[in-house]
Amino acid sequence: MSDALVVFTPSGKRGRFPLGTPVLTAARQLGVDLDSVCGGRGICSKCQITPGYGNYPKHGLTVAPDALSEWNAVEQRYKDKRGLIDGRRLGCQAQIQGDVLIDVPPESQLHRQVVRKAASARAIAMDPATRLYFVEVAQPDMHEPSGDLERLGNALRHQWNIEGITASPGILRKLQSVLRQGNWSVTVAIFADHRPGPARILEIWPGFHEGPLLGLAIDLGSTTIAAHLTDLSNGAVIASGGVMNPQIRFGEDLMSRVSYAMMNPGGDAEMTAAVRLAVNALAQSVTAEAGADPAAIMEAVLVCNPVMHHLFLGIDPVELGQAPFALATSDSLAMPARELELTALNPEAQLYILPCIAGHVGADAAAVALSEAPEQSDDLVLIVDVGTNAELLLGNRQRVLACSSPTGPAFEGAQISSGQRAAPGAIERIAIDPRTKEPRFKVIGSDLWSDEPGFGEATARTGVTGICGSGIIEAVAEMRLAGIVDTAGLIGSPAQTGTERCIADGRTHAYLIHDATDTGGPRISVTQGDIRAIQLAKAALYAGARLLMDEMGVERVERVVLAGAFGAHISARHAMILGMIPDCPLDKVTSAGNAAGTGARLALCNAGARAAIEAQVKRIHKVETAIEPRFQEHFVNASAIPHAIDRFPELARVVTLPVVSHNTGADGGGRRRGRTRG
Ligand code: FES
Repeated sequence: MSDALVVFTPSGKRGRFPLGTPVLTAARQLGVDLDSVCGGRGICSKCQITPGYGNYPKHGLTVAPDALSEWNAVEQRYKDKRGLIDGRRLGCQAQIQGDVLIDVPPESQLHRQVVRKAASARAIAMDPATRLYFVEVAQPDMHEPSGDLERLGNALRHQWNIEGITASPGILRKLQSVLRQGNWSVTVAIFADHRPGPARILEIWPGFHEGPLLGLAIDLGSTTIAAHLTDLSNGAVIASGGVMNPQIRFGEDLMSRVSYAMMNPGGDAEMTAAVRLAVNALAQSVTAEAGADPAAIMEAVLVCNPVMHHLFLGIDPVELGQAPFALATSDSLAMPARELELTALNPEAQLYILPCIAGHVGADAAAVALSEAPEQSDDLVLIVDVGTNAELLLGNRQRVLACSSPTGPAFEGAQISSGQRAAPGAIERIAIDPRTKEPRFKVIGSDLWSDEPGFGEATARTGVTGICGSGIIEAVAEMRLAGIVDTAGLIGSPAQTGTERCIADGRTHAYLIHDATDTGGPRISVTQGDIRAIQLAKAALYAGARLLMDEMGVERVERVVLAGAFGAHISARHAMILGMIPDCPLDKVTSAGNAAGTGARLALCNAGARAAIEAQVKRIHKVETAIEPRFQEHFVNASAIPHAIDRFPELARVVTLPVVSHNTGADGGGRRRGRTRG
């Protein structure tokens, strides 16, 4: 027998190879996904495989105990030094001696699938733009003069099929000493993304270097900035962190920041400097938390809305403040991170910014589209990314539409009298007894309801400090369910509602949830002003969704996905009682967690995903809410709770909303008892 049959699992690829062929070589020739950094020199251990012995009728294979060459000294050395699971071999060392079945474990697959923890179990397929390669470079020769970079390029071409490389002056400055220090063996980090052009050397180490290679996925929001430090070899998030966006001091929402730039010469530059500083500080803190070296961060991917996009790039956002809302560029951007003063990463680190969909629908919405893939949905899905500015996508396999809606910061607990950030002590869940009108609640940091024994002790450290975004949504929805608030959004008087918790507050009323003033704590209530702020926010959101439905020519959606860190905490039932989202079966309302952040991670871990979203964004049809005449009409109708005219038949299956009106026709919060029907 001069050759033998090799079958690889899980790919099922098979072929015959001459005896003595290393398993790694056979894998490469068949296109089997088997990793290697050292190119078969027995030092990286990325090529681990598990041979199967015995009978495999399914594959038509019988594997003899000597189907592979004997365990060798290189494998033993590796096992002694780093450990190797029993039954594993190094694919570059084990040679084929007979028919054999080879399993490639997930850790050895370069393009392995990383299952996301989020609700929708879509996997991230690893195909990073930056990888490590170990090479042996020819020494200089007086008779064949060539530069060190050119000889490194030749080595990469011959040993790794990498055609054409480029290096910055920074890399060239260290190239010669590193090559000599490594005795002409070096490891290089090479960046080659989906765009044509030469591969770029990002880093070079003497001898064999096993990493890690890290990437930073950044979700730059108007209120908060989040970053996920990710291992580029396996997609694992090794640390995450967040900070408040320091631009808040220039304006709470996007338009107030645009006006700040308009009114104050140099204001845009001030905001640019502030946000770049914050992103650098965040990169440093997540890296420190992971105990990692910031120089190991080779790539960053950034997603954000158009105003944040322009301010981060140092572009005056003034055009985004007025129709026709022209972006300086809507295309994706790729550049060395240092060009945008991201100095906390490796000096050669590359930055990728996802494309924007339109002047009001940014790279963050593109990231949500990448993560949630509405273009692959059989049913009509509405994806809502709730934030200071809400981004909405509506679509299915036929068509995808997008718009944004100015919800303001009310859903984040801002502009709410007792509102606060989602932090320990904040009320996040609330239930009101429809009969007694008494509230019970839960705060972040404790699993107990406020009427359960032990609640006081459990919250002694944090106290009950305020209401966060998800808490205020539940509070208003529960007040509506209990008849404390009517369809128009009016809080009733004690006489109208039958509870002394409705206290007079000027000419209106407020509903008291928790009073800790006798122990020096806060008095937490929902005021008429709070209800108005929530009505404005939810009406903007709903009106945006309705505009997309009009454009699509539909009256109903089949599925709703709530995205955004905040979306993860909203109760679907309460969101629908409030009329934030259109009616649909409650079990079809799901949360996607931080989908924009997931989209950023996808683009970070898979260069092909960058090409995919660039193409997809061109197919998404944009609907501009600001100039659409029907927006106002939809907005007014959506101010009622849940809605002035749209019906909610699915919601009616699970809850019965009391028909009450607290409007006395006098001062908006009068003393006569409201009508109560049904
Ligand atoms: Fe590196 Fe086998 S390929 S150890």
